[in-house]
Amino acid sequence: MMRLSQNIQHFGENPEDKSRIIVPSERGDEIGVAERELESMQRELSQFLLQRKRLAQLGLAVSKISHDLRNMLANAQLISDRLTSVSDPRVQQFAPKLIASLDRAINFCNDSLKFGRGQESEPRREIMKLKPLLGEVADGLGLPRDGQIAWALDVDDDVTVDADHEHLFRILSNLASNAVQAIESQGAEARGEIKVKAQREDGRVSIWVSDDGPGVPKAARENLFKAFQSSRRKGGTGLGLVIAAELVAAHGGTLELLDTEKGATFQIELPDRMVK
Ligand SMILES: Nc1ncnc2c1ncn2[C@@H]1O[C@H](COP(=O)(O)OP(=O)(O)OP(=O)(O)O)[C@@H](O)[C@H]1O
Ligand SMILES: [Mg+2]
Repeated sequence: MMRLSQNIQHFGENPEDKSRIIVPSERGDEIGVAERELESMQRELSQFLLQRKRLAQLGLAVSKISHDLRNMLANAQLISDRLTSVSDPRVQQFAPKLIASLDRAINFCNDSLKFGRGQESEPRREIMKLKPLLGEVADGLGLPRDGQIAWALDVDDDVTVDADHEHLFRILSNLASNAVQAIESQGAEARGEIKVKAQREDGRVSIWVSDDGPGVPKAARENLFKAFQSSRRKGGTGLGLVIAAELVAAHGGTLELLDTEKGATFQIELPDRMVK
């Protein structure tokens, strides 16, 4: 008993130190049972604390990265601003897209920094047309890709959504980029189509993002919305869907993978804001 209580005290002084976990004796009596139970509890606690510490470190690292990345992007933005004065029509065509893309990246870094300080802004919702936003998503991913990936919209011009523009852009970009990667994963010769369909009904909008790629692997399905766990893709981090689902949830909506025979279909349901 004395050994037990001394160990509890010793472990309690620094539960992150795994060498302080009790080493159970071979005793078959109740003290032996208590020792083994204590060992397993101490292991769990120690693991939990370690994980918490790592997450905090990770959070800080993300903030540092966002901070410096923002400064680098701001430099790139200054340089690209000068492009607008070049009269070449090709430059005139892509410069505004480049600037918009950099703008978006800078805002995103700012939002990440706010998140790191625990003050992620609530969605800044506005009522807007969905179709132009889908155009921005396609531009950002270089879609359609000639002879390789088609981009088909089944969305009426007047369908509106009540959402944060940047958030919805990120949600749809994540889904569309997964679809691109799924199609490309079939080999250099692979062809495919990404289709976006949307419908407004009873104060909510449903959006379906589908592709005719290989479908979501079974192993990925089980942890689809868990950070770092779902990725079955080389170079993937397994964060895209987690982020998308969180952003949808912040709008009071849902994101799901539907059962389909071929390819993958993700369904977003976005309710309008409650009228106050
Ligand atoms: N449209 C899709 N078709 C097939 N598999 C998909 C599709 N969308 C997602 N997946 C699977 O789900 C996994 C998780 O997707 P998620 O976007 O969360 O992470 P990721 O794409 O691997 O990495 P990243 O964090 O860079 O987005 C993918 O690795 C892939 O296996
Ligand atoms: Mg992804």
